[in-house]
Amino acid sequence: MAHEKLLEQISKMKIVPVVVLNSIEETLPKMQALIDGGLPCAEITFRTACAEEAIRLTRKTFPQMLVGAGTVINREQCEKAIAAGAEFIVSPGFSEDVADCCAERGLLYLPGIVTPTEAMAAVSKGLTTLKFFPASNYGGLKTIKAICAAFPYLRFMPTGGISAENILEYLSYEKIVACGGSWMMNGTPEEIRAKTKAAVELVKG
Ligand code: 3PG
Repeated sequence: MAHEKLLEQISKMKIVPVVVLNSIEETLPKMQALIDGGLPCAEITFRTACAEEAIRLTRKTFPQMLVGAGTVINREQCEKAIAAGAEFIVSPGFSEDVADCCAERGLLYLPGIVTPTEAMAAVSKGLTTLKFFPASNYGGLKTIKAICAAFPYLRFMPTGGISAENILEYLSYEKIVACGGSWMMNGTPEEIRAKTKAAVELVKG
């Protein structure tokens, strides 16, 4: 999908759930809970061994979902994520190898940054929508605004420490595309559905 169209979809959803799956069996109930909660989107992280398989299974079972790969830190993981059907790639930091891999395959890459130097590295690869991570530890919205003063063309997806308590503050700034977070992902599928529904209502309201 074209990057602009994908970013438009992400910005309409306003929230990108960060998903850590400890076993492949957790995949479909958790994805179903996100869909039922009104958020057909997931960043499935390569922090666990089943990430590649989980992305493949989710794409096959729920083609209506927007599925990205998260915590992608090297080319090998990036290639696995793309082969499994990931539609976008997210890293906690900036990786030149991952940036090159995504550029070669035409995939949207959202690298994590927190400093102007890291922003410059991402910009040098033509990347202008960046993850700001870990957002709450690095000054949150105040720091994003300071970075945007020097790089007015950048857009951000803050992640790390985002919750129902502070998401509206982030989303009030026009340079925030969406917020990433895992706060709705703990508990049973029913609890995930309920927290997701509440989050969707909060950001739509
Ligand atoms: C991530 O990798 O993006 C974060 O772990 C998500 O942060 P959170 O758990 O504080 O939402």
